[in-house]
Amino acid sequence: MRCMDSLFHAVNIGGALIDGNLFLAPLAGYSDAAFRSLCADYGSCLSYSEMLSAEGFIRNNSKTALLLERGEGERFFGVQIFSGSPYSAAKAAKTICALLPRPTLIDLNCGCPVPKVVKTGAGSALLRSARLVYDMIKAMKDASDLPVTVKIRSGWDASSINYRETADAACQAGAALVCLHARTRSQLYTGQADWRHIADLKKNCPVPVFGSGDIFTAQDAAAMLTQTGCDGVMFARGAIGNPFIFRETRELLETGGVSPHSAEERIALGMRHLRLSIRVKGEPLACREMRKHFTAYTKGLPGSARFRAAIVRASTEDDYTRITEEYLTAPQIFPSPQRLHESK
Ligand SMILES: Cc1cc2nc3c(=O)[nH]c(=O)nc-3n(C[C@H](O)[C@H](O)[C@H](O)COP(=O)(O)O)c2cc1C
Repeated sequence: MRCMDSLFHAVNIGGALIDGNLFLAPLAGYSDAAFRSLCADYGSCLSYSEMLSAEGFIRNNSKTALLLERGEGERFFGVQIFSGSPYSAAKAAKTICALLPRPTLIDLNCGCPVPKVVKTGAGSALLRSARLVYDMIKAMKDASDLPVTVKIRSGWDASSINYRETADAACQAGAALVCLHARTRSQLYTGQADWRHIADLKKNCPVPVFGSGDIFTAQDAAAMLTQTGCDGVMFARGAIGNPFIFRETRELLETGGVSPHSAEERIALGMRHLRLSIRVKGEPLACREMRKHFTAYTKGLPGSARFRAAIVRASTEDDYTRITEEYLTAPQIFPSPQRLHESK
């Protein structure tokens, strides 16, 4: 493939100069400090917290505080909030502004399809009122001096595609970046993202546009950048169990080729992830949460079903060490187990 060097570039988000355009998307249940730290190490230029309830900030919720923990080595960090109330969003923005170290930006979630969130007027419910999107962003801008960004979907359903209107309202209120997940709320995470919406928004939006939806490989990321002209991409499901995707995309954009990673590297990264997570959350919680991550790290590898069956009972770091070592030294899985030691 030809060199696509110019597709990797810095991006200015409301005065914050980020030195690249490959971002980790907000991912509830996944994009915590440990995961973001690994993604930053592999080349995520900015990573988002998972969505946090604006009301949680007001109540000074301890779970919210944990989710705001900064990842080791993480330079650029976005905090995403969800709310249906300009008043609460403004209060949350004010609190976020005062955090140390300061986040790079604050993002408003206008895409979460979960009924519990939508019922409160937050997430993708906001796609039904451009006026409220304007009021929310304006309130957040007035309450903080950090750049405010917005993540939207194409529309509520196929008969109400309104990403242009939603983005317009956000930009008029001062949003510094729009990320479009090119699916409707009705699609949830199914069907195909319609990248034509991203291309169209890019032509009609005064601030940088990032694309989200169906980026599962470095080639997908390059294709989205090429086909839509968007300013940057957000990796979501494609990064879960696979932070390598950042390194691979950068390599593809800069050299035209990709050096694939090995199965052993994947497992070693899973173990590094576990240790980072233990440092942040303590062993019991980290070990419980890492089961889903390990399922993703081993997805598609030979013998992964047996590995997953063992990991559901793992509750200490030693359990994980034993299970991964047994897995990697099983001759029927990897004929030359010493490869694990070479990759360490
Ligand atoms: C497990 C999971 C959690 C997510 N959490 C959030 C979130 O907290 N905030 C948000 O704006 N989007 C969230 N999303 C949506 C993603 O950021 C992304 O826009 C979407 O998955 C489309 O990208 P993909 O098709 O490449 O996965 C989530 C998606 C998944 C699968």
